Parts: sequence; C-alpha cells; structure tokens
Amino acid sequence: MAAVVLATRNAHKLREFQRLLPSVELEPLPDEIELPPETGETFEENALIKARAAAEATNRPSIADDSGIEAEALGGRPGVRSARYAGEHATDGENLDKLRAEAPPGSGLRYVCVVAYIEPGTAPRTVAGTCEGRMAEVPRGDGGFGYDPVFVPADGDGTRTMAELSDEEKDRISHRGRAVREAAAWLPSR
Ligand code: IMP
Repeated sequence: MAAVVLATRNAHKLREFQRLLPSVELEPLPDEIELPPETGETFEENALIKARAAAEATNRPSIADDSGIEAEALGGRPGVRSARYAGEHATDGENLDKLRAEAPPGSGLRYVCVVAYIEPGTAPRTVAGTCEGRMAEVPRGDGGFGYDPVFVPADGDGTRTMAELSDEEKDRISHRGRAVREAAAWLPSR
C-alpha cells in the first residue's frame, strides 16, 4: 500500500508517530522539501499548512501535526507559539524556562495536538487530541521532549512528569496519542 509522508522536521514527533502507527508505512519528509512558515492562528490551520505543503510537493498522501501547550495562568499562551515561545530559534530548554518563570507550580496546563491528513484529490481531514495536566514544582525526567519535564498529567499518578513516563505510558494518555489513534482509521495499512 501507499506510504504516507510525515510532514515534520521534529525527530521526536517522527518517533512518536512511528510508535503510534505501527501498521502504516511512514515516510520522512524528503530533505529538499521546505515546510512553509506556521502563520496560522490555530493548531488546525498550521497542521493543514504542513500537510498541504507536503502533499503538493510529493503528490503523496501526507500527514502532519501541530501541537503546543496552553497555560491556564497565561490565558492559554503559548499555544500555537509553543515552539518559539522564548524566541524564533529558542531551544526546548529556553522555552521551558520561560514557561516556568510565568506559570506557577500547580497551575493548569493543557497539551493540544491537531493531526491533519491530506490524500491528493480528496477533502482534508483533521482531528484534535488534548491532555490535561499541572505545572510541576521542578523539572524532572529525561524522556519525551519539549515541556514534558514540567508537565504532570492528570491521567497519570499525580506526581510523575510526562518526561518520567515510559513511551507506552505517554502514548496512552498524550494529546498526540489520542489524535493519532483517531486518525489511524483514515490511513492506508502496510
Ligand atoms: P510544532 O507542533 O512543531 O509547532 O511544535 C510544538 C511545540 O509544542 C514543540 O516544540 C514543543 O515545545 C511543544 N510540544 C508539543 N507536543 C509536545 C509534547 O508531546 N511534549 C512536550 N512538548 C510538546
């Protein structure tokens, strides 16, 4: 069956998608294809921008996600700007330090992920997944990526951060796990 192009340059996301979709042949985005800037105001718009760019450049079925973290104490920021919160080329560590400085321990956090799938010639599809949590007292754990060391998921044991969970535990409750499992129904199997 046809392979599906995954429109991302984020190696962590590629690994999570591969774990979540073992029966789908995922193809990394070819090096020569440049993804357009994420100019959308919503996760859905940005996920569609990425999936559409990959589908148009490859003429193949393409999937993308746009994701981020919403802090209750910050009225939902950084949201779609999570990857660039501390600046255009900020590292995960710099973004996490900025969030820690602004959102107090125990305050509400939410991860959001929207997956977009485009099969050339058919209507685009999107699905959202969320994961509720709270800000940790201090960053802990070295699994996952991004804000995981300060995100204590509500569906966990109430103490461990997302970065302290096994891959399987994260996938079961994460925003990306929830959205990708729903999207799986649209995708061709190997
Ligand atoms: P984008 O979807 O490429 O715009 O990037 C999303 C950003 O949100 C990432 O760079 C992370 O900072 C954050 N993020 C999204 N999903 C996760 C996750 O599963 N764990 C930790 N951080 C995440």
